[in-house]
Amino acid sequence: MEENRVLEMRGIYKSFPGVKALQNVDFSLNKGEIHALMGENGAGKSTLIKVLTGVYTKDKGTITLDGQGEVAIHSPQDAQKYGISTVYQEITLCPNLTVAENMFIGRGEGKITNWKKMNEDADKILQSLEIPARANQQLSNCSIAVQQMVAIARAVDMDCKVLILDEPTSSLDEQEVEKLFGFMRDLKARGVGIIFVTHFLDQVYEVCDKITVLRDGKLVGEYEIKDLPRVQLVAKMLGKEMDDLSDIKGEGGAYEGADADERVFEASGLQSNAGIKPFDFHIKKGEVNGFTGLLGSGRSECVRAIYGADRIIGGTVKMHGKEVKISNPLDAMKNGIAYLPENRRGDGIIGDLSVKENIILALQVLTGFFKPFSKAQVNAFADEYIKKLNIKTASAETPIKQLSGGNQQKVILARWLLMHPEYLILDEPTRGIDVGTKVDIQKLVLELAKDGMSVTFISSETDEMLRTCSRLVVMRDRKVVGELSGEDLTQNKIMSTIAGDK
Ligand SMILES: Nc1ncnc2c1ncn2[C@@H]1O[C@H](COP(=O)(O)OP(=O)(O)OP(=O)(O)O)[C@@H](O)[C@H]1O
Ligand SMILES: [Mg+2]
Repeated sequence: MEENRVLEMRGIYKSFPGVKALQNVDFSLNKGEIHALMGENGAGKSTLIKVLTGVYTKDKGTITLDGQGEVAIHSPQDAQKYGISTVYQEITLCPNLTVAENMFIGRGEGKITNWKKMNEDADKILQSLEIPARANQQLSNCSIAVQQMVAIARAVDMDCKVLILDEPTSSLDEQEVEKLFGFMRDLKARGVGIIFVTHFLDQVYEVCDKITVLRDGKLVGEYEIKDLPRVQLVAKMLGKEMDDLSDIKGEGGAYEGADADERVFEASGLQSNAGIKPFDFHIKKGEVNGFTGLLGSGRSECVRAIYGADRIIGGTVKMHGKEVKISNPLDAMKNGIAYLPENRRGDGIIGDLSVKENIILALQVLTGFFKPFSKAQVNAFADEYIKKLNIKTASAETPIKQLSGGNQQKVILARWLLMHPEYLILDEPTRGIDVGTKVDIQKLVLELAKDGMSVTFISSETDEMLRTCSRLVVMRDRKVVGELSGEDLTQNKIMSTIAGDK
């Protein structure tokens, strides 16, 4: 093995029934290196990691570690013994235990005998990572972001040689991501090799040294970050050149019905108990608009108020010009409003049910609230959305838990699109979803709008908003501070409105 190597995987194969998840994949990691593992949803990233950590048994191939030679890793405990720490894509903590218990239990150090010391140690780590949680607090009382930080704290505190982070940032805000990056750089300086899986290209270019790209279970290549510009990375992931990413607009066209000017939904002085200032908002039939602003600016709180997900404390709401009362999500659904929430990891997925059953679930539950469909139609829809959202699954009957993380997300999105609500609210619908499919989803939203659906979109990525929305409501400090449309829909204008420049 080369001088500076900490890990080498060679000729790795892994199949599941009907799926060749990894075929002859090589991967190597140096000491003090942050190495991105990239690829579309279902490319095999998490599988490669689970082979390395002993969650899955590989069919073929070798794993060599610095100072250990070739090793056989049969379980996550084995992996830990060899100094490999992992934060898996799915949060694997126990919500009903305390933060400290989650950090220390099952670490292979035998029984915990000194609870006081455990709590003290935990508090120290929490402080050093600036995680806003207390050791003796029950984990379920923490936000998803904090839970994710705790999962990271659990993994990184150990004297690891290799740290694996599988999409650790998908529910963190910018500041938390910066904290995590600071931490990663510290570990890197100490010689730890880090494998980082993410779909955020910005993050890769900010923190990584090298990139390995997988496609359809095969190795595409390993590149120095400086040798691989973004477009090329995307092209390698997709296996095709992609020059028209920014050019979707126009394809969808606008809704052209006679009622195109009708306000499907309208709110005046709407206010919830989530700390946002009262705001006015409306959406027309067939319109795609969005809320933009920094994370924490109140974007999600506004759409939650529209949907009645937080307690409403003021304002009036009209549907089609007639005043209605929306005090909870059920009221909203009855009025034809559907909402895909931001935090949906694990949310609403029923692992043992098939992909198709998961897609049609909400429709079955809610038939009667929305335009009802026949079973045959529903089956056709499920097949249609598997195709449209490019859901990578062996079949429609495959249990959803066998899908990759991003493909599970697509299933939830399909579930809401399939409801054909009059008004659809999507909060970060493309998070955790690969670049190619992101574009497909954006196109789909525009198509649905062309057919008359009204859509409100929230995304952290402003280019995505600019491609889909014809009007943007800008927020700062929990207040609506502007509205942009037409020629004002530019990156610069958004930024200056957020910043409050004249
Ligand atoms: N336990 C399993 N049983 C059956 N198939 C599986 C299992 N785990 C993964 N697969 C399949 O292996 C392939 C690779 O999945 P993997 O989870 O490694 O993708 P990924 O690159 O991590 O994608 P994502 O970006 O969506 O997380 C997929 O087709 C997936 O359906
Ligand atoms: Mg994955």
